[in-house]
Amino acid sequence: MEKLVIEGGRALNGSIVASGAKNSALPLLVAAALAEEESLLENVPHDTDVDVMCAILKALGASVRADGPGRLRVSGAGLTQAQAPYELVRRMRASFYVAGLLLGRLGRAVVALPGGCSIGSRPVDYHIKGFEALGAKVSLEHGFMKAEAPRLTGSKYYVSRASVGATINTMLAAVLAKGTTILENAAREPEVVDVANFLNTMGARIKGAGMDVIRIEGVKKLHGAEHEIIPDRIEAGSYLILGAMTGGEVTVVNAMGEHLRALLSSLEAIGVAVEETTTAVRVKKKEPLAPLNVVTQPYPGFPTDLQAPLAVLLTQADGVSTLRETIFDGRFKYVDELRRMGADVKVERDTAIITGPAKLTGAPVEATDLRGGMALVIAALAAEGRSEVSGLEHIDRGYEHLSAKLQALGAKVERIRV
Ligand code: UD1
Repeated sequence: MEKLVIEGGRALNGSIVASGAKNSALPLLVAAALAEEESLLENVPHDTDVDVMCAILKALGASVRADGPGRLRVSGAGLTQAQAPYELVRRMRASFYVAGLLLGRLGRAVVALPGGCSIGSRPVDYHIKGFEALGAKVSLEHGFMKAEAPRLTGSKYYVSRASVGATINTMLAAVLAKGTTILENAAREPEVVDVANFLNTMGARIKGAGMDVIRIEGVKKLHGAEHEIIPDRIEAGSYLILGAMTGGEVTVVNAMGEHLRALLSSLEAIGVAVEETTTAVRVKKKEPLAPLNVVTQPYPGFPTDLQAPLAVLLTQADGVSTLRETIFDGRFKYVDELRRMGADVKVERDTAIITGPAKLTGAPVEATDLRGGMALVIAALAAEGRSEVSGLEHIDRGYEHLSAKLQALGAKVERIRV
């Protein structure tokens, strides 16, 4: 087991570079396997979720090979296995994206149902309805989804709750379907647009990604293409929150302000100085911070993935803030750990009520999920004294080079084996 040992309470300063977006990389790797020809993905983050996706694709017969830092070459020429191995699929919900790939390429998919997850129940019924809308026959047996459709046929599908996963999965299945698919109430997240852009360079015909109606004209075949993954807005946002909490001045190079609008306006509303250029976003700590009421929403609203990091920052605001979580039903698990560091946070149903400013002090804490884990790291960096953060396997899923990036900002952080 490993732990992050943090000596907190130091002002952090400097700049780091945002990595490629994990939530784009995962479906992009799958999308690349839709073609027999090889594709090149650049700016691929090296985190454990990406490793798991590569392993699943290889198990299905696709080829994935590294071609220098952040570069992966993927080809679906050898894709013959329609059954995704349970042991790998169960490790990550996004593995369910291979269902769209397998249905599109092989007309058949057998994929383990992802089950529960530490941020709440996360069913895949909207994905399945998408496949059914395209004509697949789907059954659920022994914990697996079995779907079959010798040739998918385009149709209209209204995506419930503008689900990111269901939008992307249905899009992956629809690009090789016969005829036109129209996705209504589609997710508008930048990662959806990134996947659509890549598919289009592979020869797909997708219009409207980034809006709530996406039109996909099916094509017979896709070809290889090259694509650079967009910067990770959630990673960038996490470091900006960290900067607002512990800076000094922190610059995140490659952060795209347009993808972070809801966060940046929240930061400005509480009094953080935010400066944007075309290639970076910089934050400067200001005191005192004003309290804020925030509700998580699908993009372009405030992202649920930054709810926990923002909660940590709001512990330093002067007054009572509220954070209402509307996307997932169990996303306040980190709060108990945060309280142990001195935060004054109450959870009432879907809302965290945060009273500040609180003096945070270092403590041993355990990450129970990816973003909640990063929130604890941010709290530990701001807290006075020593903290030990365990449960790093959650944080490693989505924050590449975490210790190195924190050290570049002047943090006293050490990763130790225990
Ligand atoms: C993706 C992101 C995740 C982010 C979330 C919301 C990836 C790999 N993960 O997750 O980081 O927090 O978007 O921005 O990109 N739902 C159902 N049935 C379904 C699908 C979803 O009930 O079939 C529910 C979910 O439980 C949740 C809501 O719909 O309450 C939205 O989920 P969704 O947008 O699908 O999130 P993910 O794609 O799983």
